Parts: sequence; structure tokens; C-alpha cells
Amino acid sequence: MLGWSRLTFILLSGIVTCLVAQQVPPWTEDCRKSTYPPSGPTYRGPVPWYTINLDLPPYKRWHELMVVKAPALKVIINSVKNITNAFVPSGRIIQLVDQKLPGLLGNFPGPFEEEMKGIAAVAEVPLGVMEWILGKKDAQWIGFILRSVLENSTSYEEAKNILTNTKILAPAYFIVGGNQSGEGCVITRDRKQSLDVYELDPKQGRWYVVQTNYDRWKNPFFLDDRRTPAKMCLNRTTQENISFATIYDVLSTKPVLNKLTVYTVLIDVTKGQFETYLRDCPDPCIGW
Ligand SMILES: *[C@@H]1O[C@H](CO)[C@@H](O)[C@H](O)[C@H]1NC(C)=O
Ligand SMILES: *[C@@H]1O[C@H](CO)[C@@H](O)[C@H](O)[C@H]1NC(C)=O
Ligand SMILES: *[C@@H]1O[C@H](CO)[C@@H](O)[C@H](O)[C@H]1NC(C)=O
Ligand SMILES: *[C@@H]1O[C@H](CO)[C@@H](O)[C@H](O)[C@H]1NC(C)=O
Ligand SMILES: *[C@@H]1O[C@H](CO)[C@@H](O)[C@H](O)[C@H]1NC(C)=O
Repeated sequence: MLGWSRLTFILLSGIVTCLVAQQVPPWTEDCRKSTYPPSGPTYRGPVPWYTINLDLPPYKRWHELMVVKAPALKVIINSVKNITNAFVPSGRIIQLVDQKLPGLLGNFPGPFEEEMKGIAAVAEVPLGVMEWILGKKDAQWIGFILRSVLENSTSYEEAKNILTNTKILAPAYFIVGGNQSGEGCVITRDRKQSLDVYELDPKQGRWYVVQTNYDRWKNPFFLDDRRTPAKMCLNRTTQENISFATIYDVLSTKPVLNKLTVYTVLIDVTKGQFETYLRDCPDPCIGW
């Protein structure tokens, strides 16, 4: 896929723009206004909430969620098995994964080993298959690091340092926001090191950062520039006027909103607000 270079993770953010890649000529429109609260053809509905109780023993934490999600997970696992067996018909691969992979991967750190075992048990899927399907191991490692940061980091600085310096196994963007003036950055990561930490700078008037799916110092693919439209719309508002409503307007403007936009998340750390909306981009709209 064009331009899909890094996984994107957003955490703790005060102002969040959640954007995905697209590959066809831009269909643009004027910056939208008064789109919030969400309604109309670009809004497909809310996402369900689940509560994971971290006070439970790790083995039990995901139990309730997995009872709900196991049927869908089994369908995914079966189709992956079917596809794999279509390529290597003997069934040997799945058998190997079933039996050998748990040993090969070794133990996961902290609570994750027990959590995975608990999930596999409820889903009635062998742990090896579970890890193989959920775990592109590199993405899984980033997941572990994020969980640790979200669960145990106690300041913006600490979270930023861990996400900047810990080895990860895949390239990624980390978008981090704190609750104090100037606390906000995009960390562009390689496997081993950070390539760039781009921070808010109130003194310079940089009151927002935008991250689409291109490194900041590179131009987007010319048919896939969502960075300029996003900045243009943000520039029409002011720091004083920023709110869920004004951010949702920006994220509802084509081509920032496009056919590959699955959902929009709005987070306010200080107020403890978190809203997620499933999105649609009816024709004419780019990205398919
Ligand atoms: C997998 O293949 C089996 C046997 O061909 C079939 O019955 C089943 O519906 C397939 N499952 C999925 C999820 O594609
Ligand atoms: C967070 O810290 C607690 C206490 O040290 C520990 O039990 C827990 O496993 C840690 N969480 C993660 C995700 O590492
Ligand atoms: C800001 O965050 C810090 C720790 O990250 C916390 O101790 C403090 O209470 C927070 N302040 C406000 C106003 O939310
Ligand atoms: C937005 O405003 C900033 C700061 O004034 C400016 O540097 C930038 O060129 C503007 N970008 C767009 C796309 O309007
Ligand atoms: C910001 O909000 C104030 C008060 O609601 C309003 O008068 C003003 O027009 C807004 N400014 C912009 C640029 O939207």
C-alpha cells in the first residue's frame, strides 16, 4: 500500500487527529463547520465500551470480553487456517504452530503470558495459534510497551522517554499528549531508535501537531496529501477555540476524512473524556 510506512499509536492525547492512508486523487471540500455532535451520512454510530478490570488476576481479566468476541475470533482464525492450508495443504503448518510455537516464543513479560493463556482458554484456541494470528510478534511487542506505559507511567516525561528510547520491533509513530501547556509530541520511531521527536512549542505559536502517515520531513505522496488540508483547517481556528467540536470539524473534512477512515477518536486528558465514532465517507470521496 502506498505511503503506509509506520503503525500509528495515539495515547494520552489532548488533541488527536486519527488519520489513515489513501491512494487516489484528492476529493477536497471547504473546512467543515458544525459537524459535532456527530450525525448524518459521515457518522456510522458509536463503538461499544468494555471494561477490563486490572484488579482481577491476569488470567481472568479478558474473560468477559472474550465471551462476547470469541465467535468472531474463531471465524477469523478459521479463515486464516483455511488460507494457510490452501497454500500448504497438508495442515502441517497449523500443526507446527499449534505444537511448537509456544515453546519457541518463550514467555511473555509481566502479566501478558497469563493474560494470553486466559484469552486462549475462553476462545478455545491453542495458545500457539492465538499468538501466531494475533501476534505479528513485532506489533505485539509494541502493544506490550504501550500497555506498560499506559498502566504504569506517571508523567508525560516518563511516557515520552520510554516511547523514545525503548527498542521496539517495528517502525511506528507515537502521538503523545499531556495535561500541561506544551506537553504534546509526535515520536517517529525505527526499530532501534527514535528518528525525530516533534513537540508543541507555545512560544513559537506551535499549538498543534499533525501526523498523517508520512514522516514529517518528507512530502506526502502527491495524491495523498491530507497534511496540508488538516493544517489549513486547524489554522482557521485558534488555540482558545479548540474543542471536540472544532477538532471533529477538521476530521470530517475531505480528504482528511476518506474511505479508509474507520473511526475518529477525541480525547481530553484533563477532563478525562474519550469519545469514539465510527465513520463513513459517502461518494464522492477518495480512498478506495
Ligand atoms: C474453512 O473451510 C471449511 C472447509 O472447507 C469451511 O467449511 C469453512 O466454512 C471455512 N471457514 C471459513 C471461515 O472460511
Ligand atoms: C505495572 O506495574 C505493576 C506493579 O509493579 C505490575 O504488577 C504490572 O505487571 C505492570 N503492568 C505492566 C503492563 O507491565
Ligand atoms: C496532570 O498529570 C499529572 C501526572 O501525569 C497529575 O499528577 C496531575 O494531577 C495532572 N493535573 C491535572 C490538572 O489534571
Ligand atoms: C498554518 O499556520 C502555520 C503557522 O502560522 C504556518 O506556518 C503554516 O504554513 C500554515 N499551514 C497551512 C497549510 O495553512
Ligand atoms: C472563538 O470563539 C469565540 C467565542 O465563542 C467566537 O466569538 C470567535 O468567533 C471564535 N473564533 C474563531 C476563529 O472561530
